[in-house]
Amino acid sequence: MIAVTSQQRGAELLAIENLAVSFAAGQSRVRVIQDVSLRVGPGMRLGIVGESGCGKSVTSLAVMGLLGRGGKVEHGSVVFGGRDLLALPERQLRQVRGREIAMIFQDPMSSLNPVLTIGEQITEAIRAHQRARRHDANARAAQLLQMVGIPAGEAALRRYPHEFSGGMRQRVMIATALALSPKLLIADEPTTALDVTIQAQVLELMGRLVKDAGAALMLVTHNLGVVAGMTERVAVMYAGRIVEEASTPDLFGRPAHPYTVGLLHSLPGVQTRDSDLVPIPGMVPQPGHEPAGCAFAPRCRWRLPRCWTEQPQLEGVEQIAGDQLAAGHRVACHNPVAPEEAGPGFPIRALPFVPPPPGITDFTGQSETAQ
Ligand SMILES: Nc1ncnc2c1ncn2[C@@H]1O[C@H](COP(=O)(O)OP(=O)(O)OP(=O)(O)O)[C@@H](O)[C@H]1O
Ligand code: SF4
Ligand SMILES: [Mg+2]
Repeated sequence: MIAVTSQQRGAELLAIENLAVSFAAGQSRVRVIQDVSLRVGPGMRLGIVGESGCGKSVTSLAVMGLLGRGGKVEHGSVVFGGRDLLALPERQLRQVRGREIAMIFQDPMSSLNPVLTIGEQITEAIRAHQRARRHDANARAAQLLQMVGIPAGEAALRRYPHEFSGGMRQRVMIATALALSPKLLIADEPTTALDVTIQAQVLELMGRLVKDAGAALMLVTHNLGVVAGMTERVAVMYAGRIVEEASTPDLFGRPAHPYTVGLLHSLPGVQTRDSDLVPIPGMVPQPGHEPAGCAFAPRCRWRLPRCWTEQPQLEGVEQIAGDQLAAGHRVACHNPVAPEEAGPGFPIRALPFVPPPPGITDFTGQSETAQ
């Protein structure tokens, strides 16, 4: 039995169940998302983290019904406010998008129309969903710009996106996304296109506005450090699957998946214990080229022989480790990291050397003689 937190038990805003997504690849299809299940309660802040190509954006786009040509939901459901979004006709889905679920993308330039003024874009977003007179929509747009720290709202409305800095454009995106008081904001790498100095400011602003509005937040990022102060739960994705999910303090305090430990050790300043900065060796496998068992096995120093052949399932950490952790901590791993191994970032138990099957590269740098 997987433990469920009281927050998860409450009325759910978004429930993604067993989602699988594929894309066309020549004559065949490749699965890029496998059995992803996630819950977001009203007002909850969930982080989704993982390296490039893990499936964070595809998961978000599937929720929004924006997979585009070639993308297909193979199975699963996305229930938002009691409605299965995957079954909604496009016209109704369009009503949900923007008004109830808003999304901020990584690159504000690709989301803002270069030939429309900032004012036209925000008021258009408002008027597409609400009966509002142009004058009132303009006033609301100016108020929103003030709220995101862009002074002289009225004058700023007459300017074009290229007249704004990257940080200001992302603030405009936040203002537009929050214009209709959505119940859920999906922010996909909202600050990676910005200077490091601006990133923290924009994140802080977004977090504060989302909280003030009582909206839920799904924050997608490759940086575990970003989710630390912004979320209360975190799901770690690897090769299209969720490999660990926990409350944010549990994930940082007692990471159980070797990949999560690797992500923590790749982050300067995030480790809480004395440890070296150790990047995860190797790279995420291309979809369709994962080992038959655990996709992380070629990079994992905790692996066991069964890891090459058996797909690990998400299970409660307390079940596996037999300890009394906070409920709702789940991990998909045949040999989870022991609490005392998270700090050093490598196994301190004597584990056998497990060579890869033919044709699979071992990135761990281990060898039989070294064991
Ligand atoms: N339109 C598409 N057609 C084919 N494959 C796609 C498409 N979009 C994404 N993919 C593949 O799906 C996998 C997951 O991609 P996704 O964009 O979700 O990764 P991500 O975790 O968001 O990475 P990043 O941090 O780089 O944004 C990748 O292997 C990617 O190449
Ligand atoms: S121990 Fe096995 S199942 Fe766990 S991450 Fe490593 S390879 Fe995957
Ligand atoms: Mg992405």
